[in-house]
Amino acid sequence: MSDNIYLPSIATVTEVRPETSDTSTFVVTFDDAKMRESFTYLPGQFVELSIFGVGGCAIGIASSPTEKGFLEFCVRAVGTVTNAIHDLEVGDKLGVRGPLGNSWPTEEVEGKDLLFIGGGIGLPPLRSLIHYVLDNRDRYEAVEIVYGARSPQDLVYKQELKEWEERPDVDLYVTVDAGDESWQGPVGFVPPFLREIDLSPENKVAFTCGPPIMIKLVVEALEDLDYADANIVTTLEMKMKCGVGKCGRCNIGDKYICRDGPVFTFEQLREIPGALEG
Ligand SMILES: Cc1cc2nc3c(=O)[nH]c(=O)nc-3n(C[C@H](O)[C@H](O)[C@H](O)COP(=O)(O)OP(=O)(O)OC[C@H]3O[C@@H](n4cnc5c(N)ncnc54)[C@H](O)[C@@H]3O)c2cc1C
Ligand code: FES
Repeated sequence: MSDNIYLPSIATVTEVRPETSDTSTFVVTFDDAKMRESFTYLPGQFVELSIFGVGGCAIGIASSPTEKGFLEFCVRAVGTVTNAIHDLEVGDKLGVRGPLGNSWPTEEVEGKDLLFIGGGIGLPPLRSLIHYVLDNRDRYEAVEIVYGARSPQDLVYKQELKEWEERPDVDLYVTVDAGDESWQGPVGFVPPFLREIDLSPENKVAFTCGPPIMIKLVVEALEDLDYADANIVTTLEMKMKCGVGKCGRCNIGDKYICRDGPVFTFEQLREIPGALEG
């Protein structure tokens, strides 16, 4: 990690992989060799990416700490900074400040079955943990991944989905809201799909990330399937600025999502007034 959490470190884009029409993966490497070696993080943490002369925004780390020497970010172009990130080409510079926030639980869920439920661009924050788990496969039991997107074109990590599908130690379930002539898989929203495939809650922790409406309905489905709130974990995406609990941009009640989160169990969220609204 940087000696000063308030200062961005300079990094270079080494690869850009288009995922969908508005979303790409950016692979970046710190310019400073010491930073490359010393930057450590946990799955679920995020950074503030800065584009010089434009501004910065919070982006989750999509790679896993088990992958050394580079960081991956999957960014959807929605506004000023994310469009400027999309203008970056291999060799261009950007600032990386972090790692920020808490992380997905990794030690607490050892020996358990893990269910990952992602919607759209909600898969990248889960992917950091999925890679971590697959790189430490003997510490975890079953790995089930449920992923949904609006259409086959909106699925991110298409190549990786194929690789997960072929692994005997991963059960992958992919659905799209609307299929096309190329699509032969299930069609429908993630929450009813989840009810349909009916994955047992026994010794299992569910991790979910996606649009707020999907998360709300996924949690209702999981509760109907007898998952306890303590075993449902999610990550929140509030508007953020400082990322370190100083500017007051991201608080809900007395919790700062950037510092106390972004990862919470539903048991924790039910204790934070207003956290489950909107
Ligand atoms: C912890 C965390 C992790 C994130 N990880 C990722 C990631 O991995 N990939 C990714 O593409 N995005 C991620 N985001 C969202 C990303 O930070 C916003 O999309 C970004 O700040 C938008 O900046 P902009 O300047 O491009 O858009 P702006 O020009 O500031 O805004 C464009 C539109 O997006 C809305 N918007 C801005 N910020 C957010 C936000 N945080 N949540 C929802 N709507 C917002 C604005 O209201 C406006 O409608 C993450 C956010 C957080 C807090
Ligand atoms: S982003 Fe500044 S307090 Fe959270």
